[in-house]
Parts: sequence; structure tokens; C-alpha cells
Amino acid sequence: MLFQVFSGLMFLSLFSSIQGRSTKYVTCGSVIKLLNLSYKVRLHSHDVKYGSGSGQQSITGTDVKEDVNSHWTIKGPINKTCTRGEPVKCGMTIRLQHLATSRLLHSHHFVSPLSSNQEVSAFGEGGIGDSGDNWIVVCEDEFWERDDNVSLKHVDTGMFLASSGHTYGRPINGQMEIVGIRRKDSSASWQAVEGLYIHPSVMTKTKHDEL
Ligand SMILES: *[C@@H]1O[C@H](CO)[C@@H](O)[C@H](O)[C@H]1NC(C)=O
Ligand SMILES: *[C@@H]1O[C@H](CO)[C@@H](O)[C@H](O)[C@H]1NC(C)=O
Ligand SMILES: *[C@@H]1O[C@H](CO)[C@@H](O)[C@H](O)[C@H]1NC(C)=O
Repeated sequence: MLFQVFSGLMFLSLFSSIQGRSTKYVTCGSVIKLLNLSYKVRLHSHDVKYGSGSGQQSITGTDVKEDVNSHWTIKGPINKTCTRGEPVKCGMTIRLQHLATSRLLHSHHFVSPLSSNQEVSAFGEGGIGDSGDNWIVVCEDEFWERDDNVSLKHVDTGMFLASSGHTYGRPINGQMEIVGIRRKDSSASWQAVEGLYIHPSVMTKTKHDEL
């Protein structure tokens, strides 16, 4: 796991030069953080398992701004590749891979620990999970633009990714519960922040430098 964190950091430094060339789209291969605008928590995971439900790796919302455990890489749906730099269309199915542990943002019919909504976990080994890792990007225009408020709809169960407002005690004091909810309202919107966005034309040029 230390090695994975390290290679993740290498990845970040490799692409940090691209950060300056702004693209207005969120693209495949980009590494982003997802912010809940009302509560200012960032989607987060870490090597802490749920003590109930699936017992899988937990997903939380953290109010710490700088934390390598809040980085997520945008991937195509399971068993499909999405070319690095390809802009994500509204309505497209994606997966979000947690950079530090390689696990995928996942949901399924387990009950969440605090609010008894649907559990959201981090799943899979070595980046291989299952169809429960697929999420549809819900946004209004043709593409997911960086400033957009987007929702993520879980393909298998139709639930929307949200923070319940409940907070955990030890060992993850103060972090918020992340769940799947049935109805999309304004509370289910996320914004991509502090990302390393891969620009389409830059990616073709730098292909040889890839890991
Ligand atoms: C993805 O591919 C693997 C290996 O071919 C297969 O076992 C699995 O069922 C596929 N999953 C989906 C959701 O298509
Ligand atoms: C996104 O949501 C925030 C908070 O709910 C709101 O203030 C902002 O105007 C929204 N932005 C867009 C582009 O809809
Ligand atoms: C943001 O946090 C508020 C308060 O906890 C919650 O009601 C809302 O559902 C959250 N939104 C998302 C997208 O998590």
C-alpha cells in the first residue's frame, strides 16, 4: 500500500505541469477531488473498514482540504476503456478509483452504519471490482465541465451519492457518512475541485512519458 501511495504521488508530479493548461472539461484519467458544496467535505477513503454492513473499506467526507486520501481517478465503466483526456459526457457511466488504495467507489444493498441509508464503500483489488462500481454522471449540458454541480447515480441500484450529515466517532472522528439516497435533490450535488485535469491534445503529445 505504501508503494501505491508513492506511485500515486509520482503520477501527480508527472502531470502537475499539465495543470496550468486549463481545460474546462473533466476528462478520463484526470485526478480530482469531489466537494460537497453545502458542507465543504471532500469525498474520502482510507484503509479503515466498516464495522457493520459489508465490512468493506469505508468512504467518508472529510473537511481537511489537503489529503492524498481524497484523490480519485476518473476511469471508464467496467471492462471498457476511456481514453485519457476524453471529456466526460453528461449521462456517461464512469468509475472513480481511489488513488491511494486503488479501490473503486462502490455501492450495494447493505445498510449504511449511521443513517441506515444505502452503504457506499471502496471495493476491488488491484483496480478490479464489479458492476457495482459503475456510476452515471448526471449533469445538464453535453459535457461535465469543471464548475458544474453534478450528481452521481449508481447504475445497479439507482441511488445517488450523498453525504448524510451524520458524523463518525473514533477512529475517524468528525468525518461524515457517505451514502446512497433514492431521490436526487439539490443536496446530492458535487463539484470537482483541486484536480489535475488531463487535456486531450496534451495527452497525445505526452503519451511516451506515461507510466
Ligand atoms: C468484466 O470482465 C470480466 C472478465 O472477462 C467478467 O468476468 C465480468 O463478468 C465482466 N463484468 C461485467 C460487469 O461486464
Ligand atoms: C452549485 O451549487 C451551489 C450550492 O448549492 C450553488 O451556490 C451554485 O450556484 C451552484 N452552481 C451551479 C453552476 O449550478
Ligand atoms: C452535503 O452535505 C449536506 C449536509 O450534510 C447534506 O444534506 C447533503 O446531502 C450533502 N450533499 C452531498 C452531495 O453529499
